[in-house]
Amino acid sequence: MNLSIRLFVAFTIILTLLQACIGDVYLPAKTRVQIFNSLPGEVTLTVHCKSKDDDLGFHQIPPNGSWEFHFKANFVGSTLFFCSMQWSDQFHYFDIYIEKRDYDRCKYVCPWYVRPSGPCFNNTDCENWNS
Ligand SMILES: *[C@@H]1O[C@H](CO)[C@@H](O)[C@H](O)[C@H]1NC(C)=O
Ligand SMILES: *[C@@H]1O[C@H](CO)[C@@H](O)[C@H](O)[C@H]1NC(C)=O
Repeated sequence: MNLSIRLFVAFTIILTLLQACIGDVYLPAKTRVQIFNSLPGEVTLTVHCKSKDDDLGFHQIPPNGSWEFHFKANFVGSTLFFCSMQWSDQFHYFDIYIEKRDYDRCKYVCPWYVRPSGPCFNNTDCENWNS
């Protein structure tokens, strides 16, 4: 190989390594949101989650069952996922992932246990329905 090819190869390798390192630091990791059906009375929970760009469709969560989705947080830190949740004669909305609220506590997994009064983060921090 002549010098310029060798330089080019070295440069490409360095660039690739740099990209891998910077990527790990700056690219947000995947976030996992879990939704558990903690409703009493053996009812099926139907959830429909969306963000500005994604519609995750309808999912039926059996009694004591769960469903989860993954996403990559965006660069500007404004990721928002909201879900409709319905069972029996109930229909509610909830913001299941608000980046500002959840980024720190949802580093690995973001578990929500759905109760009649609203979802509880990690089964402890209970929130009210948005509507
Ligand atoms: C769900 O969990 C509750 C509380 O642990 C239990 O009483 C109930 O039998 C469970 N239902 C099903 C369908 O597993
Ligand atoms: C949920 O609570 C358990 C027990 O307190 C704790 O160990 C775990 O880190 C919590 N998980 C999250 C995602 O906050």
